[in-house]
Amino acid sequence: MALEERVEAAIAAAVGFGLGPDAPPRLAQALPYAVTPGGARIRPTILLSVAIACGDDRPGLSNAAAAALELIHCASLVHDDLPSFDDADIRRGKPTIHKAFNEPLAVLTGDSLIILAFDVLARAAEDAPGRGLGLIRTLAKRSGMPDGICAGQGWESEPTVNLSAYHRSKTGALFIAATCMGAQAAGQEPEPWVELGSRIGEAFQVADDLRDALYDAETLGKPAGQDTVHARPSAVTELGVPGAIRRLRDILSGAIASIPSCPGEAMLADMVRAYAERMTPVAPAAATSPMRARA
Ligand code: IPE
Ligand code: IPE
Ligand code: MG
Ligand code: MG
Repeated sequence: MALEERVEAAIAAAVGFGLGPDAPPRLAQALPYAVTPGGARIRPTILLSVAIACGDDRPGLSNAAAAALELIHCASLVHDDLPSFDDADIRRGKPTIHKAFNEPLAVLTGDSLIILAFDVLARAAEDAPGRGLGLIRTLAKRSGMPDGICAGQGWESEPTVNLSAYHRSKTGALFIAATCMGAQAAGQEPEPWVELGSRIGEAFQVADDLRDALYDAETLGKPAGQDTVHARPSAVTELGVPGAIRRLRDILSGAIASIPSCPGEAMLADMVRAYAERMTPVAPAAATSPMRARA
């Protein structure tokens, strides 16, 4: 099965655990709405690529890990779009949950997806309790406090922001979860995989800053120019577009150099190169003409 189909099948199975005949119909409708159709599915794809590179001897566990990670990501987006956070009306090209349903249902959708993520891992852990426990710990560490997504979002309520802690926890944490959980699902220790996840996360943040500055809302499927609107620190404000592109390339070559030795090392290096290609806007000249950058 192609990686993309594998990711979608795992996510569909996971969401299914949250649905049932006695469920409140609107919340039951909101759960799949928040998850499908997806965005780039970059985190579960990285997770499965690392698992495959490490032998993937328990594919069921890898699938559960990939789905759990994407559910946490989707939950974080539902909460992030709420009026009390970024107050965004569109996500992935359609109305956000609080717009399509209502605010209480958006809060509950995020909550339900987070709980579901851990349930999916717990179910899959029945056959491999040691690995399962490790996966649960890693996902919890990278989602919550003190240095997961909750911490990252929490920095936005501080009078002074520790920029690197903010980016590392808001964006980097789930990329670290992706590489570490891929390795853990295949029976490997997570620590050697932290650096790769962290570097991919850093590159993703720079690419996201570039997209936010260069693309329009239609291309992005969500509001554009948000870093300026919310006066957020951004690689583009700091380095300019050509500088940010150079930065992105540097980080990604560091990412390739950091890949731990494993049977699929060369395949992972190719994957990072392919992401680098996809993430980088065509030319620095795009800076003078917003919306000309490559999608
Ligand atoms: C958006 O993540 C949120 C950030 C961390 C900036 P993605 O760009 O991966 O969102 P989707 O899943 O592809 O929509
Ligand atoms: C959202 O971050 C990522 C989370 C960790 C929730 P942003 O607010 O920067 O991303 P977008 O622009 O809404 O996707
Ligand atoms: Mg936000
Ligand atoms: Mg946002």
